[in-house]
Amino acid sequence: MKDAAPQTIYLADYMAPGWLVESVHLTFRLAPQATRVLSRIAFRPNPDSPRQPFFLHGEDLRLIAASIDGTPVTPQLTATGLTCDVPDAPFVWEAEVEIAPADNTVLEGLYMSNGMYCTQCEAEGFRKITYYPDRPDVMGVYTVRIESDLPVLLSNGNPVASGDGWAEWHDPWPKPSYLFALVAGDLVAHHDTFTTMDDRTVDLNIWVRAPDLDKCGFGMGALKRAMIWDEQTYGRAYDLDVFNIVAVDDFNMGAMENKGLNIFNSSAVLANQATSTDADFQRVEAIIAHEYFHNWTGNRITCRDWFQLCLKEGLTVFRDQSFTGDLHGHAVKRIEDALVMRNRQFQEDAGPLSHPVRPDSFVEINNFYTVTVYEKGAELVGMLKRLVGDDGYRAALDLYFDRHDGQAATIEDWLACFTDATGRDLTQFKRWYEQAGTPRLTVRDDFKDGTYSLHIAQETPPTPGQPEKLPLHIPVALGLLDDTGAEVLPTTMLELTGASQTFTFDNLAARPIPSILRGFSAPVIVASTPPAGERAFLLAHDTDPFNRWDAGRSLARDMLLDLIRQDGGAPDAGYLDGLRATLTDSGLDPAFRALVAQLPSETDLAIALAAAGETPDPLQIHRVRQDVRRHTAEALSDILPRLYADMQIQSPFAPDALQGGQRALGNAILMLLSERDGGAAAQAQFDGADNMTQQLAALGALLHIGKGEDAAARFHDQWQDDRLVLNKWFGIQITMAAPEEAVDTAARLTRHSDFLWKNPNRFRSVMGALSAHPAGFHRADGAGYALLADWLIRLDPLNPQTTARMVAGFDGLRRYDADRQALIRRELRRIADTQGLSPDTTEMVTRLLQ
Ligand code: ARG
Ligand code: ZN
Repeated sequence: MKDAAPQTIYLADYMAPGWLVESVHLTFRLAPQATRVLSRIAFRPNPDSPRQPFFLHGEDLRLIAASIDGTPVTPQLTATGLTCDVPDAPFVWEAEVEIAPADNTVLEGLYMSNGMYCTQCEAEGFRKITYYPDRPDVMGVYTVRIESDLPVLLSNGNPVASGDGWAEWHDPWPKPSYLFALVAGDLVAHHDTFTTMDDRTVDLNIWVRAPDLDKCGFGMGALKRAMIWDEQTYGRAYDLDVFNIVAVDDFNMGAMENKGLNIFNSSAVLANQATSTDADFQRVEAIIAHEYFHNWTGNRITCRDWFQLCLKEGLTVFRDQSFTGDLHGHAVKRIEDALVMRNRQFQEDAGPLSHPVRPDSFVEINNFYTVTVYEKGAELVGMLKRLVGDDGYRAALDLYFDRHDGQAATIEDWLACFTDATGRDLTQFKRWYEQAGTPRLTVRDDFKDGTYSLHIAQETPPTPGQPEKLPLHIPVALGLLDDTGAEVLPTTMLELTGASQTFTFDNLAARPIPSILRGFSAPVIVASTPPAGERAFLLAHDTDPFNRWDAGRSLARDMLLDLIRQDGGAPDAGYLDGLRATLTDSGLDPAFRALVAQLPSETDLAIALAAAGETPDPLQIHRVRQDVRRHTAEALSDILPRLYADMQIQSPFAPDALQGGQRALGNAILMLLSERDGGAAAQAQFDGADNMTQQLAALGALLHIGKGEDAAARFHDQWQDDRLVLNKWFGIQITMAAPEEAVDTAARLTRHSDFLWKNPNRFRSVMGALSAHPAGFHRADGAGYALLADWLIRLDPLNPQTTARMVAGFDGLRRYDADRQALIRRELRRIADTQGLSPDTTEMVTRLLQ
């Protein structure tokens, strides 16, 4: 009953629901091919909305029977649901439908993964379970009965009763349908308890298949850390008797915050020393915290409609970033978050997929779970906090929770809380939500008679559908240093609101050195770079750790761009001296030093060249970066072995920031050592590793110098039964392949018997790795594009969501030369012309081609 022509939905067309839901009773009789879902829903007319025809969403459902107040009815089925004549008064709707979870490869609605039943309803999956007003502004109280022979039967809320072959759950908190969840399987629990600040005991469970029980301890600890943090930082306690997390192998995204029953991609919850890298541990902790934090920012207060997605996602990402910073250090976390913005969000904003943090139209909402909505959305929350201060932020959030608890809210509601709590006028700030694109700041300064003047101008380039841009309200954190590095002006928040503006500072003894956009205070590009000498000074002396790192980064980028323009050569002595000084400065956090050692990515360099009006050559960028690495290894050869040895940890493994930083720096140095020692150090590390961070990095270093074949085979033997580690094995052979080999390696791996391509994680481990290897993917003959397109065409009929997300791998389209552009367009058209292509993928391909 679907396949209606895909329609564009507009924010401007929002209408309040005609009917509200009081309570929902669901009974599931589970069977793989024929699950029966019985629903009893109490509706009442919405007093705040004009009467509308009664409509329920429904897709891929077989309607068995329906009744209103006990009288059988025959609804009219439409392409997207049903309509029915109903009384102009409260009534009870009952329906029975049949669905086939075993045939559900889309992984949306009720589906099966490894013999277990699970659900994913956000954004619009509940309509594949039963007929319902499947929109977030309709909230109801759910009672769920599950009938199945499987031993563990879970749904939202608290357990009510259970017996042989059945269980009942009740969720007292009204919720939208996208937060519904059900799990049934042969699972075991890692159990613990948590006592809330109001002294209630909560049962905590992480449910997994038996062999995964040794990978739950870290996640449980992370959950408890998140629960305490939300109490202490936001005054928010958990509100049910149980909190369940379930690990599922087949999952399109990272995880889902269903009320009281979070469902996770197993890669985002399972972790232990032998199988997980430090980055995995950090990701697991952050995602567990993220989903937990949604209980207040998302569940207790939800979104009125899907255009408001950033209301819950931007805020919740901001909260998980703050949590990680509080636990592991803000300096490094801020750099990592800024890298995501620069490497991924700025790229999205510079291309055909650019859209506002709050989009005003979409065809398929699943295509808008983007780095713009999530990460740029989080940056907007961070800017609000910088503008109103810590106390103002807390007051605004308290007001938000107080005023909107139990509601489905909008960005207007959110901003009104800031205005009402702090008196700040945020009319101009709101443009950040509506205007796409990355603002570019140009800075000029002068000094006369003790007065320092800083002239800042802003400009946002046009984006699809938005040719004209208005000036934004931008917090620019500024510090001024004297020539010893002492602060003559501590960090001060300038507020740039005009297209250009001048800020002056009086009574200065000498011309100061500015440190601009400290802490990455706004998601903007500072287009004017200070002279190299000034940046070297900031790298050595800035009191703001972000800008200290950024000064080094900017020097490295310019050095690389120069070398690219002259097609190779050795890095200049200034860069090498700065790097040497930073690497050997034992007063600096190893994690910070590892970040300084990391060169700007190939994509970063390609974007920089494109922004300067040049045409990047992906192979040349790769070659120059590789040259620099080789020269660096040679120039620093006197300090590297010692530094590498210093980073080896004698104490027992801990997945904490301190050890993680040491391993990160050790592994960065291992890459350099491997340039000169024929892989000896890497082979030794591979053979002796007792943790995945070091084992995988050693394998990567060996593959990178073309000596990884044996290690890769041994790695496969060791880990062939661990699907999460096997994903790493697939991925790293591609990311570490030489440019001319990456496509063939990927193609070869797709023929491997372990390439279970219907599993989204496995598919991504190969195709995602290929499109993340610019020099390999953009092979001049177009073989990379063709391979990705072949596989996307194959995946689309089964799993349009993952296909549509991965089409974004072609986003770099406009950056490259005409031949490559033509080849990419040819592949995109081939995808577009595929018979029966999903609306999801059609929307993405259309936007890319426009
Ligand atoms: N709300 C989830 C999260 O941010 C993401 C789920 C999105 N799923 C989807 N199919 N669009 O944690
Ligand atoms: Zn989220």
